Amino acid sequence: IKEYGYQPCVNIGTSGHVDHGKTTLIEAITGVWTSAHSEELRRGITIKVGYADAAFYKCPKCPTPEAYGTQPKCNNCGGKSELQRVVSFVDSPGHESLMANMLSGAALMDGAILVVAANEKVPQPQTREHLLALSVLGIQQIVLVQNKADLAEYDEALDNYKQIKDFVKGSVAEKAPIIPVSAQHKLNIDALIEAIENNIKTPARTKNVEPIMHVLRSFDVNKPGTSIKQVKGGIIGGALVQGEFNVGDEIEVRPGLLDEKKGKYEPITSQISTLGTGAGLVDAVKPGGLVAIGTKLDPTFTKSDSLIGSLVGKPGMLPKAVEDITVETHLFDTAVGTAEMVKVEPIKVREPIRLNIGTAASVGTVTNVRDSKIEVKLKKPVCLMPKSRVALSRRIAERWRLIGSGIAV
Ligand code: GTP
Ligand code: MG
Ligand code: MG
Repeated sequence: IKEYGYQPCVNIGTSGHVDHGKTTLIEAITGVWTSAHSEELRRGITIKVGYADAAFYKCPKCPTPEAYGTQPKCNNCGGKSELQRVVSFVDSPGHESLMANMLSGAALMDGAILVVAANEKVPQPQTREHLLALSVLGIQQIVLVQNKADLAEYDEALDNYKQIKDFVKGSVAEKAPIIPVSAQHKLNIDALIEAIENNIKTPARTKNVEPIMHVLRSFDVNKPGTSIKQVKGGIIGGALVQGEFNVGDEIEVRPGLLDEKKGKYEPITSQISTLGTGAGLVDAVKPGGLVAIGTKLDPTFTKSDSLIGSLVGKPGMLPKAVEDITVETHLFDTAVGTAEMVKVEPIKVREPIRLNIGTAASVGTVTNVRDSKIEVKLKKPVCLMPKSRVALSRRIAERWRLIGSGIAV
């Protein structure tokens, strides 16, 4: 995307059951294979949230959907297309054990694609669980993709389409368009781009507000054995939800890192030395796409995603980190993440519970229950933005399963 020099303006996520083709679809659109960690390659699944950017173009002369593409030259007539916008894709893992990662990625999505394989019965467990996750997090701009259309006969595809329609009835995706594609053969991608352009709008951003970024990853980019003089400071990756950061800004990261001597989390402060986006190194960043903040921190502070779930802001401007939190809950009737659906029993005092808030996943113990309000003592504090949405999970058959939604009060 370097040549366009634009930071993406909207984050579009993928969601859907394992192996239904989310990463292949992002590659078909952007040309980038987002899951390249060694364990991902070995197991053939996405583990960490991936990302890639694309520019959408439209030819002024051709009919739609053929007019849509990702290149300045029209695929259809070879003429000059017009840039519509630069978008960023956030690619979720579909494996049932990776719901926490999916929820962290979903916290950054402005809209989502729900990928459903045309050659399997609908819905598969994470098709259900991910759609609920989108609704819990308030993601309403959804495009449904019926992928692997190349593997289904016409009648099967039609039947699968009806199953998708039935499945989304009454959900946030009820009115979402369903676009049949073959990600592997790059078929009907122009129609998908058209559906994204028409259904996932760039959110209006509030101007002149303090910057806040959700941390999705953090790393140490130095090779072992780098000499002290050449060591690059720690890198923090994530997405801004509001405001703007500039090179040179002082920043604070909260709740920060565990101070083992004190036994509590301590905020970290530093200065921004570089800012990276899909458009390369820039002087300033705003919401839209994933950004990488280069800091002057000792890189051991940021290695191995140590700061995931924290917020980055200007010093003193972030909400306090809290361990005791009250959540107004709304439980589902059934937990849907496994093949057998399990009735969701009321939350009980002393039960372990996981709260996903922003990109943070924090496990805690329920200390009090009053009707639909629960109080939870978290093991790791979270920085609460006002009225934060909370995804609630409980351990069912050895796994954390999504059981409801909540608002931190
Ligand atoms: P997770 O991230 O692990 O949930 O998987 P995913 O949804 O990202 O699926 P991925 O893109 O890794 O694809 C899974 C398998 O399906 C791979 O072997 C792909 O080549 C194959 N696949 C994806 N899309 C298509 C398609 O349109 N047609 C066919 N025939 N195969 C596809
Ligand atoms: Mg994948
Ligand atoms: Mg796979």
